[in-house]
Amino acid sequence: MKDILIMGIETSCDETSVSIVKNGREILSNITDTQISIHEKFGGVVPEIASRNHVEAISNVTKKALEVTNIDFDEIDAIACTYGPGLVGALLVGVSYAKALSYSLDKPLIGVNHLKGHIAANYITHKDLKPPFLCMMMSGGNTQIIYVKSYYEFEIIGKTRDDAIGEAFDKVARVIGLGYPGGPKIDKLANDGTPGNIILPQTHLDNLDFSFSGIKTAVINLYHKNPDINKADLAINFENTISDVLVKNISKATKMTNVKTVALAGGVSANSHIRRKFDEFAQKEDITIYYPELKLCTDNGAMIASAGYYEYINGKRDGLTLNAIPNLKVDEN
Ligand code: KG4
Repeated sequence: MKDILIMGIETSCDETSVSIVKNGREILSNITDTQISIHEKFGGVVPEIASRNHVEAISNVTKKALEVTNIDFDEIDAIACTYGPGLVGALLVGVSYAKALSYSLDKPLIGVNHLKGHIAANYITHKDLKPPFLCMMMSGGNTQIIYVKSYYEFEIIGKTRDDAIGEAFDKVARVIGLGYPGGPKIDKLANDGTPGNIILPQTHLDNLDFSFSGIKTAVINLYHKNPDINKADLAINFENTISDVLVKNISKATKMTNVKTVALAGGVSANSHIRRKFDEFAQKEDITIYYPELKLCTDNGAMIASAGYYEYINGKRDGLTLNAIPNLKVDEN
């Protein structure tokens, strides 16, 4: 069978990333231009600045993604781009660029749901992974338990009622003076902390939903009342408290669905302490657990190319009317 090469374009937030992936599973190139150092001084992503930087970066990133593989545009089967969810201005840069490529090269255009991309990052890392499985989606803007029934069927069976988990990490990090992006900084600092010596509130809801605003506010209030508190202790106990809730809900979800395979996805799935807690859970409850490799946890073009491949073989094609949808859900096309 002929190999299928998909170009994936990702610009939903602060990474301009273009990748070429073979048959949905093998990365031939994955070039990312990150804007972290630009947004760091503002303590978070500034949407207008993000859009402008995508415009400046996208042509060079695309050129490099082709150069490192020695692949010509002619050999690409389709152009896939993130069209939501994300920042509207940032998304529009990738969508417009992909449309221009599709039109000028006469190649099919495929709009890809960014969240499906995060799930597909696991397909690249684990060649054996196939649906059905449960996905614990933990990104900067989303926290959901997704029942991945097939490559094309997604059901949200649990979700956050307030903050996304990455948002809680970033806000706590900002208040305790660690800067942006907070997740990796809390992860590192937590290595020096003592588990168990700070008790934080846990929110357990009756169903599979989450709420992170209580713990976020508790950490922030505690820090304001005790500015000399050991930040490493705060970090490890914040992570452990959050992990307990994640694991408890995933455990319930495996029992409810009778699905024994769990994949983590999204930027927060890079967290070493959360991964450890999921490993312990998997061993105890005989669950098979998958994580994307670290460089595929955060936003990248490869995951969009992989998700684009499955859309391509399923016959999805978009026209030049494709638009950015900032609040697209994983179960929407
Ligand atoms: O998935 P992602 O790159 O962007 C979205 O699609 O939202 O996720 C970004 C989030 C940020 O909140 C960042 O702080 C968090 O992922 N993050 C981490 C770690 N690495 C990135 N959070 C906890 N521990 C980490 N090691």
